[in-house]
Amino acid sequence: MNELNAIVESAKAAFSVAVTPADLENAKAQFLGKSGRITELMKGMAALSVDEKKSRGAAINLSKQAIEAALNDRRQALADAELQMQLQAEALDVTLPGRQRGQGGLHPVSLTLERIEAIFGSMGFDVAQGPEIETDWFNFTALNTPEDHPARSMHDTFYVEGGSQTAPNLLRTHTSPMQIRYAVQHVKKYSKVFNSDQGKSLFSGAMPEIRVIAPGRTYRVDSDATHSPMFHQCEGLWVGENVSFKDLKFVFTDFCRTFFESDDLVLRFRPSFFPFTEPSAEIDIQFQTGPLAGRWLEVAGSGQVHPNVIRNMGLDPERYIGFAFGMGPDRLTMLRYGVNDLRLFFDGDIRFLSQFQ
Ligand code: PHE
Repeated sequence: MNELNAIVESAKAAFSVAVTPADLENAKAQFLGKSGRITELMKGMAALSVDEKKSRGAAINLSKQAIEAALNDRRQALADAELQMQLQAEALDVTLPGRQRGQGGLHPVSLTLERIEAIFGSMGFDVAQGPEIETDWFNFTALNTPEDHPARSMHDTFYVEGGSQTAPNLLRTHTSPMQIRYAVQHVKKYSKVFNSDQGKSLFSGAMPEIRVIAPGRTYRVDSDATHSPMFHQCEGLWVGENVSFKDLKFVFTDFCRTFFESDDLVLRFRPSFFPFTEPSAEIDIQFQTGPLAGRWLEVAGSGQVHPNVIRNMGLDPERYIGFAFGMGPDRLTMLRYGVNDLRLFFDGDIRFLSQFQ
């Protein structure tokens, strides 16, 4: 009996130190396997008398059952521990808030462009877009800018390979080429309607006025806190039979006051030079109140469209006249939101950009 108890105890001890199911199966084999200690005892009974077999057999069976019970307890304990570990490892905190999807929004310069389009739209201006890779003709020649003009130098412009007079060969330095592109389309359309035998001569018939803005990207070899190699411009063009500098002043002043939502704003048309306008003026604005009060800030170039440019539009300058301007939406955005470094607009830093949503 003592021997059986000792075997049960050593089985329990062996089971309790088993930490993996494989350990446990090995331990089981030592006691219940083919040549395990209990099995050996059973085999040893062969020589006993019938009575002895009965009592001895019953005792061994009890021990066997005790060992099997211990084995099952340990199996269960190991399975429980395994489950616990798995639960710990795969812990899922269902109270954690889900990952938010960031709300996107428009870039501050896009907001400005939308604003510009809405304001000029309300004044009857069409909105046009044109190519950023331009030809010499549209970017310079058609705009009365001669071959030897410094604006054409390699320093001022990005040239692309393989251009010719007709094939695009440069990144447009301003949106002014759109004056020509848009006007030519307009004139073609109406000269056909009103005067189909115009041919190549200049159109001097009647047509609806040309009134358009052309916002978009422009490029120059320039890079500092207030200049970026890629920047935005918005061209404006109004050509009709009696469109004067006075109209330019009125339209642009009205635009600035609407854009900045302020009547405390003074404009100055400072004499300047552009090959494609005559006379020409830089437009400066001055806020009368607020953090920028008293400073003159340049926002656009402008002027009466030069007769040579009117001709390149296919129009007779004896009949048609108008004004053009080119303003800087990036600058307007900086002024409107009080941003002091232009590069912030193009860095793509979400902390900066999200402030405009
Ligand atoms: N294109 C000129 C510039 O980029 C601006 C301008 C446009 C001036 C239209 C006059 C008329 O500086």
